[in-house]
Amino acid sequence: MPGTIKRGELFPFGLPKDKDGDTTNYFASRQIKNPLTSMDTVEAERLYLVNCGICHGPKLDGNGPLYKGGDGPFPAKPATLVGDAKYESMPEGQMFYSVTYGKNKMGSYASQINTKQRWMVIAYIKSKQSGGSRTGAASQSGAGGPADGHATSAAAATKSDSTAAKK
Ligand code: HEC
Repeated sequence: MPGTIKRGELFPFGLPKDKDGDTTNYFASRQIKNPLTSMDTVEAERLYLVNCGICHGPKLDGNGPLYKGGDGPFPAKPATLVGDAKYESMPEGQMFYSVTYGKNKMGSYASQINTKQRWMVIAYIKSKQSGGSRTGAASQSGAGGPADGHATSAAAATKSDSTAAKK
């Protein structure tokens, strides 16, 4: 219904999925900050364990029961969310992009968990990474690469996010 906001959809992301072969919004998403200012960490952990741990592992080591070091039924190695610099340095917005739209063999989780829950799970991942800090991701904006040319639209999206986050 127009004018109504679904519960948990209070944080518009603003970046549509890239067309096949394009990575414009995947990189632009690096600029988008996690809109949550506080959250229920117990619930965030539960959401991670239920939705993500089966592949990424309860310890976030990329070796959950579905993968099992290559012996499990899932054929692709899940990202090592803790312990791999690539993912430790990945901004939250880019994780959100991948969890929302999917990444290679990982499907989209947009229909399983809502926007707020996705940001919660990502904040949980960040809290487990070595920095343990949630500010890193946001402050890395403009970290070179193809993202730079698209900062404007991402910044606009961030702006609407933070507006929406203010209750
Ligand atoms: C069915 C197995 C599976 C499940 C469940 C799963 N993932 Fe993944 N995930 C993968 C695989 C495989 C990759 C590696 C994709 C690639 O880069 O090829 C991945 C990659 C990622 C990445 C890195 C994305 C990037 O841009 O490189 C993040 C972040 C991530 N997953 C988070 C999550 C979160 C959060 C959940 C739960 C909501 C989740 N995943 C659930 C299999 C899974």
